[in-house]
Amino acid sequence: MLKSPPLSLYIHIPWCVQKCPYCDFNSHALKSDIDEQLYIKHLLADLDSDIARFNINRPLHSIFIGGGTPSLFSATAIKLLLDEVKLRFANNPEIEITLEANPGTVEAGKFEGFSNAGVNRLSVGVQSFASDKLIKLGRIHDSEQATRAAEIASTCGVKSFNLDLMHGLENQSIEHALDDLRQAIALKPKHLSWYQLTIEPNTAFYSKPPELPQDDTLWEIQEQGFKLLAAAGYQQYEVSAFSQGEEFQSKHNINYWQNGDYLGIGCGAHGKITCAAENKIYRTVKVKHPKGYMDEERVHLDHLTEVSEAERPFEYMMNRLRLFKPFSLTDFEQATGLSSDYISEHLRTAKNKKLLSENQGQWQTTLHGRRYLNDLLELFI
Ligand SMILES: C[S@@+](CC[C@H](N)C(=O)[O-])C[C@H]1O[C@@H](n2cnc3c(N)ncnc32)[C@H](O)[C@@H]1O
Ligand code: SF4
Repeated sequence: MLKSPPLSLYIHIPWCVQKCPYCDFNSHALKSDIDEQLYIKHLLADLDSDIARFNINRPLHSIFIGGGTPSLFSATAIKLLLDEVKLRFANNPEIEITLEANPGTVEAGKFEGFSNAGVNRLSVGVQSFASDKLIKLGRIHDSEQATRAAEIASTCGVKSFNLDLMHGLENQSIEHALDDLRQAIALKPKHLSWYQLTIEPNTAFYSKPPELPQDDTLWEIQEQGFKLLAAAGYQQYEVSAFSQGEEFQSKHNINYWQNGDYLGIGCGAHGKITCAAENKIYRTVKVKHPKGYMDEERVHLDHLTEVSEAERPFEYMMNRLRLFKPFSLTDFEQATGLSSDYISEHLRTAKNKKLLSENQGQWQTTLHGRRYLNDLLELFI
């Protein structure tokens, strides 16, 4: 039987000062001032339609304001948005509210303003502390601004902050990558997201690829980076996510990986909602371009699809196996509405291949499975 999981809210802000050459997120270089009020009006109308469409009357578990560059918005606008969102849901004093910030768009008072608006977690996109790498990545900030943003984040009143770093950059040696990690650790974030650069279609890097490190260098960067993070007290709880203990894990991202529900509002935002009584799971995608999204004549929803029973096991595994916490067959059944018989043979194969381990009904990705995550996932297609 399907069971309603926790409900999160993702809010997409689609503008950036300029487009980074590696980025395939739905973000658009700013050409003129943003009409914050107008965009918020559309976000709230979009939210109201989703609430009515799915008859939502559950509290929110987390809110994530992502982008693009949400820190381009004023603290006043973020406060207005959050106040209005909260009016539509039952109060949850434990709610995690994250906002993504770019170090090039921050001055001292702004983070404090976000904190006063209700944001309790900041995610700062540092990417690297090396000037040559930041230039190659097309970032609008230098290393000093990145450090300053982290320092402000640690004193502005939010409960915790995350730093985003990337590795496997052009001409990056093992020592360069570790040095970026050391500088990040010295700023004492409670959470670190450490991504390996990927070259995505429809990006400037795809048309003109940079020269990336060889596979064995990439492997060494990861191995040594994991050791460095562990020695500094960071526990890896997902492929790219590290935190100082469970308290500082990202509740919002964990809800995605545990196949939770989420409303997605804003340009191109994705949502997923379980209607347990009807045994249905729906996906929503909103209109992608800001012009179309803010068109008075149009609705915000671009398409609504149903997740068929055949698709559910792979979707479940694709999210769940990224997370290193064990899962049970009951969890699978409640998230998919299907009997665990659907996956029992695949689980056995994965166990025989030492990609998954099982202990008293709790299944978990092994170290070998983490390394060959794609092979593991393919077993469930
Ligand atoms: C949605 S982006 C937004 C963050 C914010 N706009 C910024 O750039 O400061 C979230 C993070 O994804 C990571 N990311 C984006 N594109 C990537 C790529 N092609 N490969 C690896 N990581 C990437 C970056 O670390 C980035 O900070
Ligand atoms: S600032 Fe962030 S969202 Fe914007 S283009 Fe760069 S990586 Fe993408």
